[in-house]
Amino acid sequence: MIEEKTPVAEIMRQAYRHRVLVPAFNIAYISMIKPVVESLKKYRTFGLVEVSRPDVEKFGASSFKEVSQKYYALGERVFTRLHLDHIPVIDEEGEKVNWEELIQTALLLKYDSVMIDGSRLTLEENISVTRKVVELAHNYSVPVEAELGAVLGHEKGPLPPYEELFRSKKGFTGTREAERFVKETEVDWLSVAIGNIHGAISGVAKDEKKISARLDIEHLKRLVEVTKIPLVLHGGSGIKKSYVMEAIRNGISKINIGTSVRQAYESSLRDRPNDIAAAQAKVAQEIGRLIKEYEIEGSWNLLGKYIIGSSS
Ligand code: G3H
Ligand code: ZN
Repeated sequence: MIEEKTPVAEIMRQAYRHRVLVPAFNIAYISMIKPVVESLKKYRTFGLVEVSRPDVEKFGASSFKEVSQKYYALGERVFTRLHLDHIPVIDEEGEKVNWEELIQTALLLKYDSVMIDGSRLTLEENISVTRKVVELAHNYSVPVEAELGAVLGHEKGPLPPYEELFRSKKGFTGTREAERFVKETEVDWLSVAIGNIHGAISGVAKDEKKISARLDIEHLKRLVEVTKIPLVLHGGSGIKKSYVMEAIRNGISKINIGTSVRQAYESSLRDRPNDIAAAQAKVAQEIGRLIKEYEIEGSWNLLGKYIIGSSS
């Protein structure tokens, strides 16, 4: 059984071993925490509440502290954990970020897992920063996610046409690099680029429907062979179901969903300004849709059976 104290690292290990998907929903606005948590509970789906630096800086997540306080105040720890998403070393505007301070703050705020995003660094620099975060976070028994290659789309300005990106494999995670990265950093989970892209977070594109990305499943298979740790699919919004299902069967254990739940919330508020409850209902509806689409209703029970020392 998954209990309040079950370490998220162990839950993710079982998710990876048994090919169960753990969804992670970005909190772009503080009021989104409630419908995310309640929906996961309703469908008995294990998932993560996550917040990234862009959620805080560009949208309405306020602060990492407020997200943590509101999350813990809900007191629903059985079906969920709190994840610190994207702490970029270089942000989407090209500015340096004080990542050490942000990670340290999150650890003190009881985030269950953290992500360091060194995807805009050289391989050597990414290894070095990730290694430092692993050392820091493991002192708190907190697992670390990193990114290798680059899941594009958060940066300002237009992306090259998607088909061109896919064909050229721009940003794709390299197999040899991935093997070396995991060995040298001892990172727990790895975000890979296999055709997935992020939804835009600036300009008019942030309100537009995201393009439907494809995934290179053969490339994913090669990455799984050399990494042997849970792999993460960022840019989850809008990827066609068949690709996501194939990705789960081949080692993707966590999917990050930001744009589709954020847009559900924002568009409801545009139609009915000040009606937070209606916007929360739209978020819950979108999460319900995704849980059905990925066939992960009841995943909490399923994962619970695999947890070491489980009594069920
Ligand atoms: O880390 C956040 C996710 O990768 C969200 O991606 O906004 O394209 O769903 P998305
Ligand atoms: Zn992401």
